[in-house]
Amino acid sequence: MKKTFLFLFLLFAFVHCKKAPVLPTGLVTEEAMVVSARKEASQIGVEIMKKGGNAFDAMVATEMALVVAYPFAGNLGGGGFMVYRTAQGEVGGLDYREKAPLAAHKNMYLDSLGNVIPGMSTTGGTAVGVPGTVAGIIAAHEKLGSLPLETIFEPVIALAKKGVVVTENQEKRLASQREKFIAANGDSTKFATPFKKGDTITYPVLARTMGRIAAQGRDGFYKGETAQKLAAFIQGHGGFVTEEDLENYEAVWRSPIIFDYKDLRVISMSPPSSGGVTMNQIMAMMEPYDIAAFGHNSPKTIQLFTEASRRAYADRNFFLGDPDFVDIPLDVLLSDGYLEQRMGDFSFEMATPSAEVGHGQVDIVESMETTHYSIVDAQGNAVSVTTTLNGAYGSKLYSDELGFFLNNEMDDFSSKPGVPNMFGLIGAEANSIAPGKRMLSSMTPTIVERDGQLWMVVGTPGGSTIITAVAQTILNAYEFNMSMQEAVNAPRFHHQWMPDMVIFEPEGFSEELQDALKEKGYLINQDRTPIIGKVDAIKVLPNGQLEGGADKRGDDAAVGY
Ligand code: GLY
Repeated sequence: MKKTFLFLFLLFAFVHCKKAPVLPTGLVTEEAMVVSARKEASQIGVEIMKKGGNAFDAMVATEMALVVAYPFAGNLGGGGFMVYRTAQGEVGGLDYREKAPLAAHKNMYLDSLGNVIPGMSTTGGTAVGVPGTVAGIIAAHEKLGSLPLETIFEPVIALAKKGVVVTENQEKRLASQREKFIAANGDSTKFATPFKKGDTITYPVLARTMGRIAAQGRDGFYKGETAQKLAAFIQGHGGFVTEEDLENYEAVWRSPIIFDYKDLRVISMSPPSSGGVTMNQIMAMMEPYDIAAFGHNSPKTIQLFTEASRRAYADRNFFLGDPDFVDIPLDVLLSDGYLEQRMGDFSFEMATPSAEVGHGQVDIVESMETTHYSIVDAQGNAVSVTTTLNGAYGSKLYSDELGFFLNNEMDDFSSKPGVPNMFGLIGAEANSIAPGKRMLSSMTPTIVERDGQLWMVVGTPGGSTIITAVAQTILNAYEFNMSMQEAVNAPRFHHQWMPDMVIFEPEGFSEELQDALKEKGYLINQDRTPIIGKVDAIKVLPNGQLEGGADKRGDDAAVGY
């Protein structure tokens, strides 16, 4: 009798408790972890924590190690955003996004007829914004770090001298861009060499540049030898960044976007990244529904997510820009009443055409060139960082004298209202170019609390798909009770208002499901991109252990102890 009762009780608990703890399937460690795009970078971040450093010291180390191990997106010549939560629960955001040079102006990428000049904002010196990464790591280190800068740089500089072994993915990426490297830099540039899987690439010049940063901090990059060589190099290639631009660059501490979703508290990046605002809108529009009952990637879940994204991206593209230059009506955009009204015409019966929500028709080319890493240290400090050169290897401009690539972040501005950028995003006046202004981003470094405790650190590359990939990863773990690794691996989809299509990763969405959505008026595209995002995340398990989610879509790796 007792046994029958226990069985019935367990059955009841199993059926009714959708959020019963799920078994981890990713790497599990006891105290600390780094998940990043390359094992070498995760290892160096962990090494710094084992030496007594905290998550912020590990942030500096991981960011710099990615410059060496993952030049595709890891950078000295780009920028990024950090969201953090200390062990005491204090949260903050750091904006080290690139800025338009002082010589920039609204129509700088238009010809005399007012048309966008192809390539000018994407390739070579003219595409380069003032880099922010070094200012970012130094600001994080000064405010929250604990180890001397030179100690943190030591293993990174050693890696640059010893070199990094080329992976199969890296061989493919380098081969696909080689002609562009030569076109931008000439045929004697370092990456004119056709590197193969198994080759070791050493970075002695980069090691010297990093030595100056380790010794002099911010001034080792924004003043003196590095700044002189960098400004001369960019201008020698037709660009606009001057020594004055470099000297003036400052990272900015910003209050993150914080919102509740059911019993989660989500902390994400504020403008000039659109990530936090857009994810807040999407998740708030979905919150009234019992998504867990709909099922993971079921037609109803996909419809609801798509319709929320359609409306949120239409707002993103119109209202968001650099908050130091434009007034963003955040109080309205994030209010319950406004979001309820936005979903007022939503129905599970039929898709809402984007033309009825906004305007325009565009083609889109997706890219994955940003990178994200997540860190938790033994004290419980958490760091979520997304950093980028924008395109693959940025502008393709590589300073052989300094050892790093330069961004093409100027393309994230709206060169001309209504004309899409390389992510197919259509901008408006709020994101037009002005001297010293930061270009709008989609980067969404995020930290999630559950019941007041640190629960998840998450983020991804993926251009305009970043926001939807982060939101889906959180929902996978929370609504569909997946382990961290399962939540990261699960097939993803994306909609960004324009173009009016749902993009599916090629595997994981059945013909039957696609037909059901087509019948309701959804346009589906599976050809556009083989993968959506490369999420690197950490979840705190109920017993305090950490589970890593290193995306199977890349060479990403979780390392910890
Ligand atoms: N460069 C991609 C982004 O910032 O969204």
